[in-house]
Amino acid sequence: MQRRQLSAQEVIWYDPQWLADPAAPVFDPAHWRRHNRISGQASGRGTTWFIRSDGGDAALRHYRRGGLFGKLVRDCYWFSGWDNTRSQQEFALLSTLRAAGVNVPRPLAARAVKRGLCYRADLITEKIAAARDLAELLQQGPLDTEEYRHIGIEIARLHRAQVNHTDLNIHNILLDTDGRVWLIDFDKCHAQSGNGWQQSNLDRLLRSFRKEVKKRAIHWQEQDFAALLDGYRSVRK
Ligand SMILES: Nc1ncnc2c1ncn2[C@@H]1O[C@H](COP(=O)(O)OP(=O)(O)O)[C@@H](O)[C@H]1O
Ligand SMILES: [Mg+2]
Repeated sequence: MQRRQLSAQEVIWYDPQWLADPAAPVFDPAHWRRHNRISGQASGRGTTWFIRSDGGDAALRHYRRGGLFGKLVRDCYWFSGWDNTRSQQEFALLSTLRAAGVNVPRPLAARAVKRGLCYRADLITEKIAAARDLAELLQQGPLDTEEYRHIGIEIARLHRAQVNHTDLNIHNILLDTDGRVWLIDFDKCHAQSGNGWQQSNLDRLLRSFRKEVKKRAIHWQEQDFAALLDGYRSVRK
């Protein structure tokens, strides 16, 4: 990862293999739209734009808050140092996880722009090709035992790397057409030693399955989680 301070208000972190000119307007969706390089979008808290860059397909996301507080200060975060910004933290965590062999998107570039006491942030990651999230897949039909086992295995590998995914829900787990499982959305997640927190990641995920049965009528049954746990426990610590 390289770091470049573009001005007193702006810092970017990037992979020089992907970005040759750190001053290029890569974080601006309008830039990609002008060049007809937007290939799609996905929505979570905000919009994630899929862009066709010279270095391959990528996902561009502007950090946004959720909840009621988020309606007031949408995308402003309290500044406490460049290396404490959401975007820098997520970029660094993704690099660490890739080095540990966990299936997460390759980080390409991150930015923080300071304004007064606040900052705004953006992140660009490599797009996971031919992948869909579990919420989407399960609305169409059930997954098989082997797929659930693989999801459990990937979560165990994340935990073996000592990373706490504080928002592990079915929208943040992708499955590609080769059957590979990908974990995404590491905003506010962190490396953590010790035990105890791992179970709360699994509890959060179970709540997410249960909630989406009611909300989106996903094809999921309690016993599917047993297959997931079975995969999780098959990984040596
Ligand atoms: N690298 C990526 N490859 C493919 N799809 C992605 C990627 N990053 C994000 N997405 C899609 O965009 C959605 C929102 O991104 P996410 O990182 O979860 O942010 P948030 O939930 O905070 O909006 C995801 O649920 C997923 O569908
Ligand atoms: Mg998400």
